[in-house]
Amino acid sequence: MAVGVFDSGLGGLTVLDAVAKRLPEVPFVYYADSKHAPYGVRDADDIYDLTTRAVANLWDAGCDLVILACNTASAAALRRMQENGLPKGKRVLGVFVPLIEALTERQWGDNSPPREVAVQHVALFATPATVRSRAFQRELAFRAIGVDVEAQACGGLVDAIEEGDMILAEALVRSHVDALKRKMPHPQAAILGCTHYPLMLEVFQEALGADVTVYSQANLVASSLDDYLKRHPDMLGTGTESRFLTTGDARKVSVHATQFLKRPLSFEAA
Ligand code: DGL
Repeated sequence: MAVGVFDSGLGGLTVLDAVAKRLPEVPFVYYADSKHAPYGVRDADDIYDLTTRAVANLWDAGCDLVILACNTASAAALRRMQENGLPKGKRVLGVFVPLIEALTERQWGDNSPPREVAVQHVALFATPATVRSRAFQRELAFRAIGVDVEAQACGGLVDAIEEGDMILAEALVRSHVDALKRKMPHPQAAILGCTHYPLMLEVFQEALGADVTVYSQANLVASSLDDYLKRHPDMLGTGTESRFLTTGDARKVSVHATQFLKRPLSFEAA
């Protein structure tokens, strides 16, 4: 039994960490497509092709269930993958819906009509491809009315994080928050709509101010996966060990991943 966790690079480790803490008995196979990161500057067809290839490798590694721990892939590829049909017995879940359910005060799978919610001014920070897809606004419109969303495409931020250049990453967060605030001076809530961004959570919170509620996905995805596996225990797959796979330079990726999670991680070539 193993569950696949996919990201273009290291960002999905924020999700992996939360799901592994919540479900310590479940082996996870993490797949970083580091060779092709970042995805956020690619077009939708390219993101779809790369994501389907990576997910097929996770099926081969013994996973029946794969979490796209990548908003860019969830926004640009998930719906199309589901529409085109997955192999029998396989499932792919994205990271958008748990976050939007939390923001709109809904329980898992509550499909009742959209209604007014407490929050009205929401800042979305995401990659250029996620912002362009408008997937967040679409999912939100199914659940809430009267919510004003201002999206800020955070160009350069994923590259800086992947390279471990935290000084540049911090400067970029501050300038993207400034740009957002010029468009929406008083957001009530901010969504970190890229799994790399929780690594900069404190900088986002400080730049936004203490009165802005910052939503990040890892714990929300972990509790929704826990709930899903209780209802579908047969989706645990045949793999039996946790592994870390990358399409990039395994040694370099291991060094950066160890810095991020502050525990030793050893990647192998995918
Ligand atoms: N961490 C991913 C996301 O959530 C990918 C970012 C990228 O590769 O540009 O969007």
